[in-house]
Amino acid sequence: MKKYYSIAIDGPSGAGKSTIARRCASAFDFLYVDTGAIYRAVGLASLRAGVDRKSASEVSGILPGLAIDLRYNDSGEQRMFLNGEDISDAIRLPEVSICASDVSALPVVRSYLLEMQRQIARTHHVIMDGRDIGTVVLPNADLKIFLTASAEARAQRRLKELREKGIDTDFQSVLQDILYRDEQDSTRETAPLRRAEDAVLVDTTELNFEESFSAVSQLILERFFTVDTVEKETI
Ligand code: DC
Repeated sequence: MKKYYSIAIDGPSGAGKSTIARRCASAFDFLYVDTGAIYRAVGLASLRAGVDRKSASEVSGILPGLAIDLRYNDSGEQRMFLNGEDISDAIRLPEVSICASDVSALPVVRSYLLEMQRQIARTHHVIMDGRDIGTVVLPNADLKIFLTASAEARAQRRLKELREKGIDTDFQSVLQDILYRDEQDSTRETAPLRRAEDAVLVDTTELNFEESFSAVSQLILERFFTVDTVEKETI
């Protein structure tokens, strides 16, 4: 059976995981899988259905009616579809971020999405980013990275991103959003956000994008592309 390589990048919201992972995927020819987008799809569906997002029975009631589909366009960009509708932009709205965090705390949602994520990694070389990729989804990933930054630095970056998309908001509300999600994502009982013991910590508080990208690329190069690694793997 062909061996597919996997890189797990976990960390809190706004640490730069998706931008860095996407760029590394294209540089090293891996498939980028943004697992947060999958939770966002469920968050958006629960918002639209008007169900109580903290109620396992209400949210599990809508799951069978959801056809969540990850597709890639010609430039390798991940697009999310929900029952045939392209929801890639809708899931980025701040209110959907909170809904995604709420529904992601429910074990029924996590187990529903687990197999979908593993199946992609069984059939592609992947860089997968999320909260529990190195701890739960791909515990045997070939490389695990825990990417983090201070809450303030993350809020500043997220604010810039939202403003560039024309979403009108301010620093305090973005920071509150981040703190709410940090707390909820790391204290939930099922698959909380935490660094896997064998994950390499990369703190980007003091790094700009290029420096962060370079730090992560270096880890990938060392793990997969040095002569030493190639020799070890062919022995
Ligand atoms: O990475 P993101 O901000 O797009 O993720 C949205 C929410 O989904 C986040 O608050 C926590 C949840 N999530 C998760 O619980 N596990 C993952 N692997 C990815 C995201």
